[in-house]
This record gives sequence, structure tokens and C-alpha cells, in this order.
Amino acid sequence: MTDFFATIRRRHSVRHYQEDMPVEEEKLNAVLESAVAAPSAGDLQAYQIVAIRDAATRAALARITDQTFLAEAPVSLVFCTDAERSAKAFGERGRELYALQDATIAASYAQLAAVAGGLGSAWVGYFDGGEVARALDLPAGLTPVAILALGYPAELPEPTPRRRLDEVVTMR
Ligand SMILES: Cc1cc2nc3c(=O)[nH]c(=O)nc-3n(C[C@H](O)[C@H](O)[C@H](O)COP(=O)(O)O)c2cc1C
Repeated sequence: MTDFFATIRRRHSVRHYQEDMPVEEEKLNAVLESAVAAPSAGDLQAYQIVAIRDAATRAALARITDQTFLAEAPVSLVFCTDAERSAKAFGERGRELYALQDATIAASYAQLAAVAGGLGSAWVGYFDGGEVARALDLPAGLTPVAILALGYPAELPEPTPRRRLDEVVTMR
């Protein structure tokens, strides 16, 4: 087990993966359990996670997103909002904001759990949601908002710069 703050420091976007090292079932489960442990508005978890091992589907995602590492990484996790699930309780705010926040926080937890489990991940947000939905044959009402590549890293990415705290944080 890695110290929590070290886990945060060690998370970097991994864009090269060991293709011949599958993610063990129990590790994938631990990542998914961590994702659903995230907070969500009204505890509604207004999202669906599509976990993909199938190589042809990952290749399709790589093509659609133009991000080749999605084909390399042995698992893709597609986080989809289920806006109506949140809208039933929270109306427009649930539909437009909470569902997206729920899905996003769950994906963030998954990224940290991946690091704690010795895995790497990278967030892919640049894609046409309709194309991804069609490729995955998603039911109406689910909108893909983030894809995580998941696997054993084949690179050690350099830490990327961050804005200074006094620039990002306003103290009052
Ligand atoms: C909303 C969002 C969308 C992103 N989309 C992409 C993407 O389409 N492709 C990609 O390679 N990285 C993507 N990233 C990863 C960022 O580029 C990366 O997190 C950032 O450069 C900081 O680097 P780090 O993750 O190594 O700390 C995305 C991250 C977020 C949070």
C-alpha cells in the first residue's frame, strides 16, 4: 500500500503500456470499487462505467479518439453520465451538472486507485461522444464523458508543471 500523498504525487498520465501484461481481475475490481466509493450527489452515482478488455473494441476507441495508447493499454474504462438518474432527484442541476461531476469524481478515484495498485492510467477527454456511444452500443441516456486507459506502464512520465498555489487559490 502506498501512502496517499505519495500516490497523488506519483500519478502521471501514462501513454505507453505493457501490452503483454494484462490487468489482473482483482486489481481491476479494486479500481472499480474505488471509483464507486467516490462521493456523488444524493449518493445517486449518476454514471455507468463500461470496462473494456476486448482488443477490437479498444482499437475502435483508439481510432475514434486518435489516441493510440487506448489500443495499447489492456483495459479501457469509459465513464458515462446517466443524466436522468440525477435529474429525477435534482432536476436541471442534476441533469446538467451533478451527473457530470459524479462521473468525473469516480474517474479521478479510479486514477488514484490505479497508482496505488501499481498501474498507470491516462484520461482521454477529446472525442466525439456520439461516435463512442455508437461504437459501444450504449443505451440511450448514457453519455460517455471520459475514457481511462489502464494498464502496466511502459514509460515513466516526467511530472508536468502546475500553476502556483497563490495563483490558483484565493485566500479570503
Ligand atoms: C478533462 C481531461 C481531458 C483530458 N483529455 C486528454 C486527452 O484527450 N488525451 C490525453 O492524452 N490526455 C488527456 N488528458 C490528460 C492531461 O493532458 C493531463 O492530465 C495533464 O497534461 C497533466 O498531466 P498529468 O496527468 O501527467 O499530471 C485529459 C485530462 C483531463 C482531466
